[in-house]
Amino acid sequence: MTVLHTPRLRLEPFADAHLAGLHAMNREPEVVRYITGKPETPDDTRAAIARTQARWATWGYGWWALIEQNSGALAGAACLQHMGGERSNPHELGWRLHPAHWGKGYAIEAARRIAAYAFDDQRAPLLMAVRHPDNVASGRVMDKLGMTQRPALERWYDMDCAVHEITVDTWAAAITTPKK
Ligand SMILES: CC(C)(COP(=O)(O)OP(=O)(O)OC[C@H]1O[C@@H](n2cnc3c(N)ncnc32)[C@H](O)[C@@H]1OP(=O)(O)O)[C@@H](O)C(=O)NCCC(=O)NCCS
Repeated sequence: MTVLHTPRLRLEPFADAHLAGLHAMNREPEVVRYITGKPETPDDTRAAIARTQARWATWGYGWWALIEQNSGALAGAACLQHMGGERSNPHELGWRLHPAHWGKGYAIEAARRIAAYAFDDQRAPLLMAVRHPDNVASGRVMDKLGMTQRPALERWYDMDCAVHEITVDTWAAAITTPKK
């Protein structure tokens, strides 16, 4: 399983050892507000870890725990998966952070590393991300990744979602064009 690194984070494939840290995040109402709206029980988090372990086994990617390198704390989670859980659908990026770690730029730091992994290592032609239309903070992460928002809302995960996407060509052009 693939461990990834960024300057401040170590991205570890979900493991049973992440249960306490993931549950401490997923039980927070403000974390799940725009996702399921329902804070997780310990059993919910345990089941989520098991589901993503199965994805790692069949797809070779899934959810990573975001571990702060300087403290060892579990700051959040981020993923590479497929829209709607179907491998025939485009790849999808996702992220969430414990509120104690909001405002540090960790979501975009992890998202950029996973996007590079998806395009370079998994040869994904397109990456998508979806959000509740009111989830402005997540939309900003999508913007900073260089994604473009589709004009219409789409139905995913039993929700009307704002849909953002970036192609490999746009990604490659952005990283070879010097920033002004
Ligand atoms: C989405 C999330 C990961 C963003 O993490 P973060 O650490 O707050 O991200 P940042 O601090 O880099 O903020 C991202 C941008 O959103 C803006 N922002 C943050 N909260 C905001 C809010 N409530 N309203 C408007 N803008 C907001 C920030 O100013 C920043 O914009 P900027 O870079 O132009 O200054 C975090 O809010 C989170 O974990 N939310 C709960 C889980 C979730 O909704 N995940 C996404 C599901 S689609």
